[in-house]
Amino acid sequence: MKYCPNCRREYPDPQQTCLDDGVILSLRDPYYLVGRTLVKKYRIDALIGIGGMGAVYSANHLRIDRHVALKILLPNLALGNERMINLFEREAKLAGRLSHENIVNIIDAGHTDDEIAYIAMEWLDGNTLEADLVKKGVFSFERTLEIIRQIAAALEEAHDKNIIHLDLKPSNVMLVKRRDGRDLVKVVDFGIGKALSNTAGSFVSSVMGTPHYSSPEQSQLGARIDARSDIYSLGVMIFQMLTGVRPFNVSSAQELIRLQIESSPPPLRQLRPEAPVAIEQLLSRMLAKDPKQRPQRASVVHELFAQALNCKEQPQTKIRLAEEKPLVGEKLERRLVVVPIGSANQPADSSLQKGQAETGDKNSATLVAAKTPKTYKDRGVAYLDKGDYGRAIADLSKAIELKPDYADAYHDRGVAYRRKGDYDLAIADYSKAIELRPDYAFYYHARGDAYRGRGDYDRANADLSRAIELEPSRRAVVDPNIWTPF
Ligand SMILES: Nc1ncnc2c1ncn2[C@@H]1O[C@H](COP(=O)(O)OP(=O)(O)OP(=O)(O)O)[C@@H](O)[C@H]1O
Ligand SMILES: [Mg+2]
Repeated sequence: MKYCPNCRREYPDPQQTCLDDGVILSLRDPYYLVGRTLVKKYRIDALIGIGGMGAVYSANHLRIDRHVALKILLPNLALGNERMINLFEREAKLAGRLSHENIVNIIDAGHTDDEIAYIAMEWLDGNTLEADLVKKGVFSFERTLEIIRQIAAALEEAHDKNIIHLDLKPSNVMLVKRRDGRDLVKVVDFGIGKALSNTAGSFVSSVMGTPHYSSPEQSQLGARIDARSDIYSLGVMIFQMLTGVRPFNVSSAQELIRLQIESSPPPLRQLRPEAPVAIEQLLSRMLAKDPKQRPQRASVVHELFAQALNCKEQPQTKIRLAEEKPLVGEKLERRLVVVPIGSANQPADSSLQKGQAETGDKNSATLVAAKTPKTYKDRGVAYLDKGDYGRAIADLSKAIELKPDYADAYHDRGVAYRRKGDYDLAIADYSKAIELRPDYAFYYHARGDAYRGRGDYDRANADLSRAIELEPSRRAVVDPNIWTPF
């Protein structure tokens, strides 16, 4: 519950300003700072939020009459804990070294006589990415790309200065609306980021990020952590923006850490079937347990994501078969699934025969020479991503011919039919996939969407209900306009 510090009217939490007088609403303040002036400089007007380490207030810098955000170290953490206060101030200095359009600007830091440590920063008029995710559920690929571009730019700036964030998560990303309606992204709270020495990464300290977004190495005592830990956290956020759920979702922190360290995340396309394969591959690399397998720089994440999306729109592309092995190291940054070239008219089969043999890539050459159901299926999916449904259907049919119980190939051919608007054929293929794997939520979800496309809402509802029954986390990605909860 929030209240207006001016007229005392009460509001539910999501409301940000008073409808009567436009004043920023405040939470009930357990630290009794609202109304106080700190260090004769900052008049505290409202409590905005309380996090793990600090509380953020809306304040006015009286000397220059400027609206600022004041983050204080929680008094219960600070009380008598000089080390904690020093750490907080040291981190403020680190964050102060960063000056970038996509990083919140730090104005000042210090502490009061009664030991309230604070950091003053620019006031950001917007929502957190977390709040927007709760509101929207999932984001379009284009909006996700725009947000990635800006987070990656912020990380590049910090990593170049040997600062890692270590607590990158949606509540630490603010979205400020630009005049043209686009998002201006600001990363906040480089608060527990640590300076890296130039030669080596830092060791895990007593301060850890939030387990849902923490890298495996952040949870392992004694493990070396470096900027690639932020790449992992960014991977978790991208997964969430695209599917509405995080890759690992359990309430116990201990179990969560175990999953981060040991388990593979679900493939992206299980939850967002229309995602390009190249994005699924990018995410599985970002979420790799071994930092060496991740993209090594934030800018590479942005580049690969953009390329994966551009491929969809580019008619002039030649398709290579997807890599079967996880991509590792820098060399592989260049091994993309789809490569723009000038000739779009390459017959499907000739690229299958020649494939990456042209590039001297041994792995793919073997893959191509084998002409297995999987090679046809992979190339069919690559055609699907690029919007060439005719060739996708031809390849996927070939895969099915070679392997009549190939459930995924039926599913993917169903996707091609559905995208062409051929709902009956799509439903027939999804039904075949369900017949072959009756306990797989993903196929019911796909068929439910196809029924909806055909206007058959009862059947759509039944399939979506079944999908959610089999896999409850799917509820977050089912369109609430077409699904009535059972
Ligand atoms: N510069 C800012 N301008 C305006 N609002 C801000 C600013 N920085 C943070 N906030 C708001 O303050 C809220 C609380 O932030 P805080 O960092 O204390 O919590 P958190 O991010 O949820 O947790 P953590 O302590 O783990 O970072 C944020 O959710 C955001 O809404
Ligand atoms: Mg925060």
